[in-house]
Amino acid sequence: MIRRARAPGLSVRVKLAVSYAAFLMVAGALLLAVVWVFLLRYVPTGAITGPGPFIPNRGDLERAFTPAAAWALLFLLAFGLVGGWLLAGRMLAPLQRITEATRLAASGSLSHRIDLAGRQDEFRELADSFDAMLERLQAQVEEQQRFAANASHELRTPLAITQTMLDVARNDPGHDTRALIERLRIVNARAISLTEALLVLSRAEQRSFTAEEVDLSLLAEEATETLLPLAEARGVELQTSGSVARTAGSPTLLLQLVTNLVHNAIVHNLPTGGAVLITTEQTPRGTAALTVDNTGGPMSPELVATLAEPFQRGSERARGDDHAGVGLGLAIVKTIAETHAGTIAIRPRAGGGLHVRVELPAPQR
Ligand SMILES: Nc1ncnc2c1ncn2[C@@H]1O[C@H](COP(=O)(O)OP(=O)(O)OP(=O)(O)O)[C@@H](O)[C@H]1O
Ligand SMILES: [Mg+2]
Repeated sequence: MIRRARAPGLSVRVKLAVSYAAFLMVAGALLLAVVWVFLLRYVPTGAITGPGPFIPNRGDLERAFTPAAAWALLFLLAFGLVGGWLLAGRMLAPLQRITEATRLAASGSLSHRIDLAGRQDEFRELADSFDAMLERLQAQVEEQQRFAANASHELRTPLAITQTMLDVARNDPGHDTRALIERLRIVNARAISLTEALLVLSRAEQRSFTAEEVDLSLLAEEATETLLPLAEARGVELQTSGSVARTAGSPTLLLQLVTNLVHNAIVHNLPTGGAVLITTEQTPRGTAALTVDNTGGPMSPELVATLAEPFQRGSERARGDDHAGVGLGLAIVKTIAETHAGTIAIRPRAGGGLHVRVELPAPQR
């Protein structure tokens, strides 16, 4: 923990107690001054004679009054210090719990919460914001840990497969080298695409790009053109429609976003006779929207809700397909949309297949 060196100072409790006492003293002194100015001053100084018995003059009154006033001031001082000390202690108690929680958080324990009871006031507000911050931090850290564990697991898989293939080849003198090389190539290519996807994801998370004005319809056209051969090979019909949809952001990242969505729509489609519809539009609110619809097998809303999480794959994993994707495509799309302050909505379509809509803010003028 980094601690800034500071010169020692009085605690806030002491300062508050001293201030209370000081205020009481000033108030007491003021009252005494009022007695002097409006009362004692008018009493004659000489001997006062009258018909009755002894009448005290100003000197007599002063002699009687001064020690009593001094005692009163002394009492006020003690009362102010003790009362102030107790009162300040009560007021500052929540601060101690907040400080304690901050220390715990700084030493790495994010699961602790302040949970300050009582009605709303400034301290509760501070404690609640702090709790909310801890909650978010904890979720983020856990997500990162999960991600790192998944990524290492995914990266180990191709390496373990390679190892097994090499072991088998070593123990079998009559093996087919060409087939081995071909299979090693496929496994290696998969490891490369996984690593590349991880790199893209981490770059997208860094938010270090200069925003340029981008038209999503042009990006959609570019992505469709690149992926047309893949679509033809899979017998999927690609259709784009839509108008200019201007937003601001990184053209490279946004092209990646569109490409991932169109790629998914092609490869996770029907085995034959599939179709993909890509539309772009400027919404009445001024935001830019991109929608990708594709035919495909039926999908449950529960499954769809998890698809954008890293390493989540739909059906391929169940089928044990060797050519399954790495499961980062939609996670990358989501991250890119979020770094551009946009939103993504993924819904299953009634007749099967998926509907994905990304909305990005209008460019600032
Ligand atoms: N357009 C789509 N239609 C139907 N299913 C889809 C679609 N897009 C994604 N999915 C499902 O969501 C899963 C996750 O998609 P994602 O793009 O993140 O990973 P992937 O395509 O499996 O791998 P890659 O990282 O190579 O893209 C896919 O495995 C697939 O089951
Ligand atoms: Mg994908």
